[in-house]
Amino acid sequence: MLDKKVAELLNAQINKEFYSAYLYLDFSNYYAEQGLDGFANWYKVQAQEERDHAVLFMQYMQNNGCKVTLDAIDKPDKEFASFSDPLKAGYEHEQYVTGLIHTLYDAASAVKDFRTMQFLDWFVKEQGEEETNAEGLIKKFDLFGSDPRALYMLDSELAARVYSAPSLVL
Ligand code: FEO
Repeated sequence: MLDKKVAELLNAQINKEFYSAYLYLDFSNYYAEQGLDGFANWYKVQAQEERDHAVLFMQYMQNNGCKVTLDAIDKPDKEFASFSDPLKAGYEHEQYVTGLIHTLYDAASAVKDFRTMQFLDWFVKEQGEEETNAEGLIKKFDLFGSDPRALYMLDSELAARVYSAPSLVL
């Protein structure tokens, strides 16, 4: 059995990951409405990854004999005034999620729960990659976003992103 606090944080993380998926679908819808189908695709794929993260947390809890409780998912409430707003909001959100993973890691470490720490190692690395990707999108947009032809090229590049299943298998 897992420590009570660790189990609570793991369960809470399921909701956060599903919220991340919901948030990125909201971003995807915004870009689709604006005619930027590549950006829309990029966030739709990101949403699939977030849903995978939620399921990984669920599976880990179940593998360790813990009951999973699914909570209501918050409504995404961001308003966007420019194409770059979701990119910035996405980067901030990933930094927030990194903080949640670190808090969880701290809790597992405090009770010497090495199994959970090892499970979380994948997420620590994944968050590093996701922050880098999110920041990279902002940099590209800052460089190319104001030129329509360059924006078209960037949108085409983002249209090429395809979903691949997570490398972590439980
Ligand atoms: Fe699953 Fe991007 O946090």
